[in-house]
Amino acid sequence: MNIVMMGPPGAGKGTQAKILAERFDLLHLSPGDLLREAVREGTELGRKAKTFMDAGLLVPDELIVDLIGARIREEETGRARGVILDGFPRTLRQAEALDGLLEESGRSLDAVVNITLPVEEAVRRLTGRRVCRGCGANYHLLYKPPRALGVCDLCGGPLYQRTDDTEETARSRLEVYRRETEPLISYYARRGLVREVDGRGNVDAVTDRLVKALRLGP
Ligand code: AP5
Repeated sequence: MNIVMMGPPGAGKGTQAKILAERFDLLHLSPGDLLREAVREGTELGRKAKTFMDAGLLVPDELIVDLIGARIREEETGRARGVILDGFPRTLRQAEALDGLLEESGRSLDAVVNITLPVEEAVRRLTGRRVCRGCGANYHLLYKPPRALGVCDLCGGPLYQRTDDTEETARSRLEVYRRETEPLISYYARRGLVREVDGRGNVDAVTDRLVKALRLGP
């Protein structure tokens, strides 16, 4: 099954995509994670992307399409399983490119999940998020605090706040989402692919809704 996860920053796309990928053996592709890795490694892509990311703006389409295209093509030669795209596409140009990439590999899109969340809750989730520098695990100061302040429960690595998770940048990202990405929901709705999922409530409750909406269960 090939799935696109949509929803505003903080809706829980990354958290839920990881759970579904593990449970249903899907390849999880997140341009956000790949870009942060490129920034950490100081690659050319990372240097180009950093200014946009720090400002809460979208990275230019051609960089993102090349990045995701390479991963999807790589997967073609790997195990035959579905893909869960978290944070891609975010513009009409990316959506059209995705259709081409899937077609090339004999796949098609099965569903687009739109996780909804009120803006103020999204801001709370973003500003309270902390990430492990060692293993990338996600925490939240209120909703999922680590056992020891600033230390990852899983690997003992230090926790940090993403540079784009300050309140000001979080609000800009939500505005960019509303302006540039939300219109894609109608694009996919016209193809009958959209499943709306309420992103409120705890992580398990949202996972249950997703499994039902995608009819992934037994
Ligand atoms: P990206 O990393 O994709 O950021 P985003 O879309 O803004 O999404 P987030 O990771 O902030 O939120 P999420 O919905 O995944 O929530 P999460 O599960 O982490 O992109 C970053 C930047 O990269 C972009 O701004 C852009 O510059 C660039 N970029 C990426 N893709 C691009 C593209 N296609 N085109 C152009 N540029 C692109 O959860 C958030 C927090 O809430 C966590 O702390 C989590 O623990 C907590 N939480 C999650 N679920 C729950 C719950 N149910 N209850 C309580 N807490 C919860």
